[in-house]
Amino acid sequence: MYLYGASGHAKVIIDILNSSKVKIDALFDDDLSIRELMNIPVKHDWDNESPVIISIGNNFSRKQIAEKLHCKYGTAIHPSSVISPFASIGEGSVVMQGTIIQSSARIGKHCIINTGASIDHECEINDFAHISPKATLCGNVTVGEGAWIGAAAVVVPGVKIGKWSIVGAGSVVVSDIPDGVIAYGNPCKVKSVHNVINPKRIAIYGAGGLGKEVAGGIQRINRAGIDSWELVGFYDDAKPIGFKVSHLGEVLGGMDELNAMKEPLALAIAVGTPSSRKMIYDRIINPNISFPNLISPSFRVLDPKTFKIGKGNIIQDNCSATCDVEIGSYNVLNGSNVMGHDVKVGDFNVMMPGVRMSGEAQVGNCNLFGADSVVLQRIKIGDNVTLGAGSVLMTKPKDGFTYIGVPAKKFDFE
Ligand SMILES: CC(C)(COP(=O)(O)OP(=O)(O)OC[C@H]1O[C@@H](n2cnc3c(N)ncnc32)[C@H](O)[C@@H]1OP(=O)(O)O)[C@@H](O)C(=O)NCCC(=O)NCCS
Repeated sequence: MYLYGASGHAKVIIDILNSSKVKIDALFDDDLSIRELMNIPVKHDWDNESPVIISIGNNFSRKQIAEKLHCKYGTAIHPSSVISPFASIGEGSVVMQGTIIQSSARIGKHCIINTGASIDHECEINDFAHISPKATLCGNVTVGEGAWIGAAAVVVPGVKIGKWSIVGAGSVVVSDIPDGVIAYGNPCKVKSVHNVINPKRIAIYGAGGLGKEVAGGIQRINRAGIDSWELVGFYDDAKPIGFKVSHLGEVLGGMDELNAMKEPLALAIAVGTPSSRKMIYDRIINPNISFPNLISPSFRVLDPKTFKIGKGNIIQDNCSATCDVEIGSYNVLNGSNVMGHDVKVGDFNVMMPGVRMSGEAQVGNCNLFGADSVVLQRIKIGDNVTLGAGSVLMTKPKDGFTYIGVPAKKFDFE
């Protein structure tokens, strides 16, 4: 058996297959840094090996991968589960420890029936659904394609859960839930829309290294199920149409093509020079273009109620903000950036990896902070300042100048 996705979910599947004495030959993952998982080698080139289980917990990602792979699929069924001989389980599905699947229940393809879930008679679980630990589905319940039933939720007999909907943990579902919503509570009520069914189109302006990183960040957001983006490609005036930026896409045109776009398109400006970011933004006059925030799932906010953010920001992995932090619009936080209490950041700033802003620091517009630079508490920065990599800013800088060193001093270019 082969597993596609070297995730935490894969670890459980490995346990299940081990208990059933099924040999696992290898895993696959596009993250080149993962070489093995639980002593099983992780490969990065897929060569149509079979049979496979897609070992990714996110329902939509499992569907996307299933559409891409052309292979035979296996199943993983833990010996401790109790399954009626009159029930059926589709290819690629995983049935975890201690689950009960009663007579005439039908489990579709690539489903996850998680630890201790109970699926009663004649339930119909459609492809790519996930029934979380200890969830209880009474008789004749229908779960639509890609729906996710949260841990310990209870669904009363005969209820239908719509496609790609989420039922929150611990909910009691007493009436039908429509397609594509998030619903929770007792009784379970629809609270918001879950837009995973219709991925929104997004492009990246900037076909360089930052563009590649932002493309990777978008894939990570999709995998985490936070949002659902279809990356259509890149725009760049300095690269020819068709230039392959990475396996994630190629250049579709420059500013003229972008401004001629007739359909709604979200855009991330992936250019690392603050003034160029602003210039590019100012040249976009097409009302069909919108600028969403692209925020890594690893971004942590200590006090979300006091956190404010504008639009068009790109926040890459492992950034954090504590309390009363305000971030304006069109900034790039390029990874591992720390914002202390009451930090205020304006627009079009770029923070390279490792930048730390101490409490009450204030940042205007179009500033560039080099990797691992530090701004001390209560320092006010205006506009167009550059702080060199590894520098520590201890006094208020003058607009438009470069500061370097510890403590950072104005640097005069000859
Ligand atoms: C339903 C769910 C998807 C909502 O996530 P979300 O949209 O990010 O919601 P938030 O966390 O922002 O919470 C929004 C509000 O809903 C409440 N809420 C969230 N989930 C809830 C739940 N399951 N039951 C009751 N209230 C819930 C929160 O307390 C919060 O209330 P507030 O606005 O008064 O503070 C999520 O909470 C959930 O239950 N996921 C299932 C997790 C699970 O079962 N995992 C199993 C993995 S194997």
